[in-house]
Amino acid sequence: MSVKNQLIKERLPEHVAIIMDGNGRWAKKRGNSRVFGHRSGVKAVRAVLEAAGELEIGYITLYAFSTENWKRPKLEVDALMALLVSTITSETKTFMKNNVRLSVIGCIDTLPKEVKRKLVECIEKTSQNSGLTLNLAISYSARWEITDAVKKIAEQVKNNELDVDAIDAETISNNLTTANIPDPELMIRTSGELRISNFLLWQLAYAELYFCDTLWPDFQKEDFYEALMDFQSRERRFGKTSEQLKK
Ligand code: IPE
Ligand code: IPE
Ligand code: MG
Repeated sequence: MSVKNQLIKERLPEHVAIIMDGNGRWAKKRGNSRVFGHRSGVKAVRAVLEAAGELEIGYITLYAFSTENWKRPKLEVDALMALLVSTITSETKTFMKNNVRLSVIGCIDTLPKEVKRKLVECIEKTSQNSGLTLNLAISYSARWEITDAVKKIAEQVKNNELDVDAIDAETISNNLTTANIPDPELMIRTSGELRISNFLLWQLAYAELYFCDTLWPDFQKEDFYEALMDFQSRERRFGKTSEQLKK
């Protein structure tokens, strides 16, 4: 039986977050430029979105460009920005066909005008779609996001709109870029790196973490199903004992 058919539908995560890593190494192994690796990663994005859509998963958050990635060579940054524009342009039709809604988290004001314009255009065009939400993390980092949330909360306190004693975890969640999105239950990182790299630090508090050696451009539907199978084998205790869960 294929891995997909072994998945228990009722126990699928509602939100999967993915650190798409390993494009550069994938290209280097083939004697190609890093940019070739990024371009080759687009088909893995398509595969994951298709698989998630078929399984009726609600949200996929893809880490596409971190705040720290601005420090890469200009040539690579420019190529990544151009790739974003061309991919959004070519994929909008598919999003419409597959009922996918685009949303973006990150400091989008730092993006080149053309990138921002394309993203906003696609967000608006797909806003009525009711299937999978593709949430792209671009110019995103969790520390940037949390700092921003702290500023917003402080502002509300200063304006007497919020009492300090009323601040709780929900207040913080509601002031993050993911305010209307459930926390990811599963986080996948490809390419064998065992770190979070400033991704969704608050939201991943109780996510199951899945690391695989596959480099992102090689990631296929089957790899995604494998990650979901692994997720379904975990016991999510949220601080309780195993015995308590079985009651
Ligand atoms: C991930 O692949 C894509 C981005 C960070 C934009 P990398 O470019 O980090 O690839 P490696 O890790 O160098 O192989
Ligand atoms: C994380 O990958 C960011 C994205 C996948 C967009 P990096 O390749 O930038 O992370 P580090 O630098 O290896 O931690
Ligand atoms: Mg990397």
